Amino acid sequence: MTRPDRKPASRILGTGHYLPKEVRTNRDLEKVIDTSDAWITARTGIRQRHVAADDEASSDMATHAARRAIENAGIQPEELDLIVVGTISPDMPMPSTAMFLQRNLGARRDCPGFDLSAACAGFIYGLSIADNFVRTGQARYVLVVGVELLSRLVDWSDRSTCVLFGDGAGAVVVGPSDGDGRGVLSTHLYADGSKIESLYIPGGGSRTPPSEQMLRNKQHLVHMTGKDVFRYAVKGLSSSVRTALEANSLAPAEVDWVIPHQANIRILEAVQVRTGIPMERFFINIDQTANTSSASVPIALDQAARAGKLQPRQSLVFCALGGGIAWGSALVRW
Ligand code: ACO
Repeated sequence: MTRPDRKPASRILGTGHYLPKEVRTNRDLEKVIDTSDAWITARTGIRQRHVAADDEASSDMATHAARRAIENAGIQPEELDLIVVGTISPDMPMPSTAMFLQRNLGARRDCPGFDLSAACAGFIYGLSIADNFVRTGQARYVLVVGVELLSRLVDWSDRSTCVLFGDGAGAVVVGPSDGDGRGVLSTHLYADGSKIESLYIPGGGSRTPPSEQMLRNKQHLVHMTGKDVFRYAVKGLSSSVRTALEANSLAPAEVDWVIPHQANIRILEAVQVRTGIPMERFFINIDQTANTSSASVPIALDQAARAGKLQPRQSLVFCALGGGIAWGSALVRW
């Protein structure tokens, strides 16, 4: 997955994101659970999150983000050769959210697509897949989406999890590099299945199928041991960022932007210390969006791009970690 000696094969041609209209602030949460704006802000950096409307599903949010990315890339939906959707909150178990996207976008009826389950690392995994499909010539244009509707998968009476998450979608179109050195320089993917129980949704699948008892025990909702995940995140994000830099012979000072998964500002501050990349190079939007899982990196990327923060040939590092535990990083010459 590392090619420091080779030119990038693929490039991000366009970006887009979507955040639902409803905003739920920490003060709003104070009214329904035993929490406070001061606690949430100090412990996480989160001030508000977007929450999908009752009639919105993941594919609806993904469609908005994807349309923007496709338009930004200057291609037509019919030109897509593959649709990859990172999500743990699909519209339904079958078919994939990617199929709803194919239909909504007007992509070709023979355009393949699938969902991938790597939780918060879903976008990095998807980007790696897209890079490899373009590299081998099996696809010219790949749509990669991260979308999550976690407001329906958290226990709104559990203050240790519900305050952390938000809904949203982010998308990129990946296509062939122009051969000018700009593009995806490397991706590194990791997973550690020994830590499954630190962050998981135990019910609703084949092991514990939907039942009244499953619902009563709230097994269909996110279960998390926050302190453990915090430690794994600091370690996994820091080491994968360092690996990305080493693989591309890049010093921390040469990184123009880190576009990280937005889980907790304290996690990112610890990653900053461990990587030596100055904090002002981290693009942070967690105060506005909270943790949107697989959507967080592409939402942040699109916001940074549209705000004019990214200049051609800058070095960007993406990193994310989540349930699995799955994590990874990517280095992109913008
Ligand atoms: N409001 C007020 N008090 C709270 C809240 C809340 N929302 N949540 C927990 N508390 C209380 C606890 O009950 C506890 O009280 P006690 O001391 O009386 O028992 C106290 O605050 C401290 O709780 P801790 O769990 O020790 O708090 P901690 O500093 O570890 O912060 C947190 C918890 C924010 C969840 C942190 O562990 C964390 O961010 N972990 C990473 C989890 C994460 O980001 N998961 C997302 C998915 S994975 C990823 O994206 C990386």
